[in-house]
Parts: sequence; structure tokens; C-alpha cells
Amino acid sequence: MASRSKIHLKRFKINAMDYSKLSMESIRFNGGLLCTVDKKGRPNIMTIGWLLSGVAWYRPVLSVFVRKLRKSYFNLEESGEFTVNIVNEKCGKLVHFCGEITGHKVDKLKYLKVGLIPSETVQAPTLQKSVISYECKTIQVTDVPPAYIHAQEDLKLFDPNLFWRAYFGEVTAAYAVRNPEKYFSRWAYPL
Ligand SMILES: Cc1cc2nc3c(=O)[nH]c(=O)nc-3n(C[C@H](O)[C@H](O)[C@H](O)COP(=O)(O)O)c2cc1C
Repeated sequence: MASRSKIHLKRFKINAMDYSKLSMESIRFNGGLLCTVDKKGRPNIMTIGWLLSGVAWYRPVLSVFVRKLRKSYFNLEESGEFTVNIVNEKCGKLVHFCGEITGHKVDKLKYLKVGLIPSETVQAPTLQKSVISYECKTIQVTDVPPAYIHAQEDLKLFDPNLFWRAYFGEVTAAYAVRNPEKYFSRWAYPL
């Protein structure tokens, strides 16, 4: 019988919103991985805890919120494209590493030797380990204004000049393994 890690490689094209709820629940509990590329096409992965799913201009959209000091921020500004990778709890170490270490200092992908899959519609690749993946093209960019932040503690923790920038990405392709819900623990998606 094939191992689960091998099954991860076999994925299928899905409609952009087929697994929106599962993706959101997974982000809440496991975090997700944002992949972007720099000017030279070199990829970088960053952990994300903020992800919004919805519709804009009739298009399926995923929005990521990235502070303006991240390596990923500079990549997003340069490329206007990204992928969102939904992983399960087995990727805890990867999520932790990519949420602590910056691509400004470390070539995380070289270090981690994570398998990548070239995307069909964007330059940024997706991750072999992901259960669900989205390719996105930025169609709108909005800054999060410090004046409207309800979490007042964030104002003390973060420099207001380096707050989050929201990137609304049209989902131009999406993939999932078959029966993706089976890859998550029950507690991780209280449906
Ligand atoms: C669980 C978790 C969720 C995170 N979510 C975000 C996020 O949504 N936006 C953000 O700007 N940083 C977030 N971070 C912090 C970045 O992942 C972290 O600073 C990372 O090292 C940035 O990588 P980069 O500089 O290579 O882009 C998160 C970190 C963790 C551990």
C-alpha cells in the first residue's frame, strides 16, 4: 500500500472554492504556508495565520496579510503572485521553522529540502506536502491601517510603519489530494 507521503504527490485539480471551509479550519489550527518568488524566480516559504477566502469582482479570491518587513512582502511586491499551501499537523516542524526564520537571512528551501511542484498559472511553486494548494494572482492590495486595529496589544508589539499589507489574490488554479478531509485530525476541523 502506498504511504501517505506518496499519496500527497497524487493530487487533482479542483474548483477554487471546493474546500474553502476545510482550508480555513486548517489554517486556524495548523497554520499554512505562503510561497512567493523573488525577481530571479527563487522561491521562499513563510508561515501564515491570516487567510481570508471570498469573492471579489465575481472572482474567487484568497487574501493573505503580510507585514511589510517580511522577505515574502518584498517578493509579493515584485512578483504580484503567490501560492497558498494547506498542510496538516504532520507538517508542524516545517510550519514552525518557516514562521520563525526569515528568507532575508536563510534560503529556507535549500535548508529544508522541501519538494516543490511547478505551478501552471504563476511563477511561485506549490509544496508537495500540501493537502490543498492554491495558485493566486494579486488583483488588489490594501494596507491594514493601525488606527483601525481592534487588537490594541498589536499596536504595542508591532511598528505601525511595518503593519500588514493585504494581498487579494484571484485563485487561478487549485489542487487537492482525493478526500483531503481524511488528512486532518478530527479536532483540527470541527465541521
Ligand atoms: C503560526 C504563525 C502564523 C503567522 N502568520 C503570519 C501572517 O499571517 N502574516 C505575517 O506577516 N507573518 C506571519 N507569521 C510570521 C512569519 O511567518 C515569520 O516572520 C517568517 O519568518 C517570515 O518569513 P519571511 O521573512 O521569509 O517572509 C506567522 C508566524 C507563525 C508561527
